[in-house]
Amino acid sequence: MDFDFTQLPPEDRYRLLTNFVGPRPIALVTTRSEEGHSNAAPMSFFNVFSQDPPIVILGIQTRGDGEEKDTLVNIRRTQEFCVNMVDMEIADAMILCGVNFSRDVDEPKFAGLDTEACRQIDASYLLRTPCAMECRVERIIDFPRRAIVLGEVVEMTVRNDCLDPQGRYVDAQVYQPIARLHADNYIIADQQFELKKPDEAASWEAAQLSPRQEKAK
Ligand SMILES: Cc1cc2nc3c(=O)[nH]c(=O)nc-3n(C[C@H](O)[C@H](O)[C@H](O)COP(=O)(O)O)c2cc1C
Repeated sequence: MDFDFTQLPPEDRYRLLTNFVGPRPIALVTTRSEEGHSNAAPMSFFNVFSQDPPIVILGIQTRGDGEEKDTLVNIRRTQEFCVNMVDMEIADAMILCGVNFSRDVDEPKFAGLDTEACRQIDASYLLRTPCAMECRVERIIDFPRRAIVLGEVVEMTVRNDCLDPQGRYVDAQVYQPIARLHADNYIIADQQFELKKPDEAASWEAAQLSPRQEKAK
């Protein structure tokens, strides 16, 4: 089957894109409202795109009625947000935070998630998250009915048990994030495996030869 995206209605593009581009990591984004409430919302149009500068990106669409979501309203005002990664322990709470509550609802509290003030930005992070990333807005790219937010990570707080004793590498037995597939389907990263380049790769790279040239030698 072939789909001409220039002719497809946005709902069909959404369905196809989110059905095939996955699993998508989930950012449970916490922000502060003008009245001081803590807001939390899951976003799976999310990923990390660079380490220098350290940039994460969110895609935030408007609600059905065209209103901007609280997360985007808060980000525009404060220019700050925190990304909380999600594992099974906080999966149910994450889904609750995805409910369209009114602006004055403290969503982490409603979902039973304890919070702590972020270190460098005006927001709270979730105490049970495996990893929280405090971000300052680098830029916001506005499109009709959506915004793409680039955030620069300024602080990362990692739950101690998620890292090896040297604090360098993740412990894959402990940190098993969940990610979104299509519709209401999710996956947990509990079947990890190693995939390494073949031994010959080092010599190919050193010689800058293609495998075919290497064979012909
Ligand atoms: C797993 C999951 C992923 C989501 N990803 C996004 C997303 O990437 N962008 C978006 O605009 N809404 C996304 N949503 C919907 C928002 O979380 C939802 O509209 C939420 O009510 C927004 O809350 P807010 O008004 O407090 O910002 C997602 C919902 C779930 C459950």
